Amino acid sequence: NYYAIIMAGGIGSRFWPISRTSHPKQFIDILGTGKTLIQNTYDRFLKVCPPENIFVVTNEIYTGLVKEQLPAMADSQILTEPVMRNTAPCVAYGCFKIESINPDAAIVVAPSDHLILDEAAFITAIEKSLVTASEKQCLVTLGIKPSRPDTGYGYIQYTDQTINEDFHKVKTFTEKPSLDIAKTFIQSGDFLWNAGIFVWSAKAIVNAFNNYLPEMHEIFAEARSVYNTDEEKTFVHKIYQRCINISIDYGIMEKASNVYVLPSEFGWSDLGTWASIYQLADKDYVGNAVIPSEKVIMYDSSNCMVNVPGEKLVILQGLHDYIVVESNNTLLVCPRDQEQNVKQVVADVKNKF
Ligand code: GDD
Ligand code: MG
Repeated sequence: NYYAIIMAGGIGSRFWPISRTSHPKQFIDILGTGKTLIQNTYDRFLKVCPPENIFVVTNEIYTGLVKEQLPAMADSQILTEPVMRNTAPCVAYGCFKIESINPDAAIVVAPSDHLILDEAAFITAIEKSLVTASEKQCLVTLGIKPSRPDTGYGYIQYTDQTINEDFHKVKTFTEKPSLDIAKTFIQSGDFLWNAGIFVWSAKAIVNAFNNYLPEMHEIFAEARSVYNTDEEKTFVHKIYQRCINISIDYGIMEKASNVYVLPSEFGWSDLGTWASIYQLADKDYVGNAVIPSEKVIMYDSSNCMVNVPGEKLVILQGLHDYIVVESNNTLLVCPRDQEQNVKQVVADVKNKF
């Protein structure tokens, strides 16, 4: 009864120029491991459920990339969206479809672009969560001990009340708070970061859509007669236009009352910034992280993050604490502590070129 949904329709704009609308982060081997992030995600779920129970939800424009990178997946397992509407419709589509296949399903829903270093611990956490979600018909989320007041995450305040020993009742869920609020959360000590990995029974999530996003519930319930038929794609693409643009975090997790968090530790990173990639990458003795490394020659250079795939020979002389990234005929050279300004660059470049 176990199923997995991989959410793979985001555009990962922070990793420009490596990550682009046409080729986002989940389809890139961003750490130089030999596999892309979505391939690693898929491989992890092969250890949790049968291959035919794994689904990818992605934008139509990435179907080719998904097929190329996950050739074992059947077309019927790749659910496509005609427009980007954030994660709530993506979750609804996947979960309503699975519910129509198996009403007793328990489902793990996960991002396609995260790093998990301790795979065994991850699999144990997911299996425990699938058991709890089916037994208790609740919504489970995985919580990570926070290390800084990052405003890009959801914050989970949990209580001492537990079920199945380790699952704490969630008191509040706050998606992407302001910096001031994030600071108070960190100081208080009873908050976890939302890892963005959810586990629930098909019934519980369908019910949550009914309670908190009733219009979306109606839209995907209307499609019940076409799931797993030849008409599915055309029909779903038509009804998608009616969906509002909202994430599952704002749409359901902040509002639902039957949410439990499993405090987890499995070497998680959402690889959200170049700083996080740099931190995790193999570095030489002066702190240079180079992916791939054969064609990069460095003299008197330290603490640089270099990512220049392809044939180009790269020479750094006297460069310290820089990001040097090339992709799609675009070269970005930027001090490591100014990477947050790249967002503005992307906006300007889009307008000019
Ligand atoms: N199919 C589909 N369609 N997938 C999408 C869409 C969409 O419209 N938008 C985003 N995704 C995918 C992304 O590719 C990613 O794998 C996942 O859904 C999560 O989306 P993000 O856009 O990366 O979310 P976030 O990082 O801002 O926030 C989420 O993750 C944080 C942890 O990394 C939230 O769940 C936060 O609460 C959480 O802390
Ligand atoms: Mg993310």
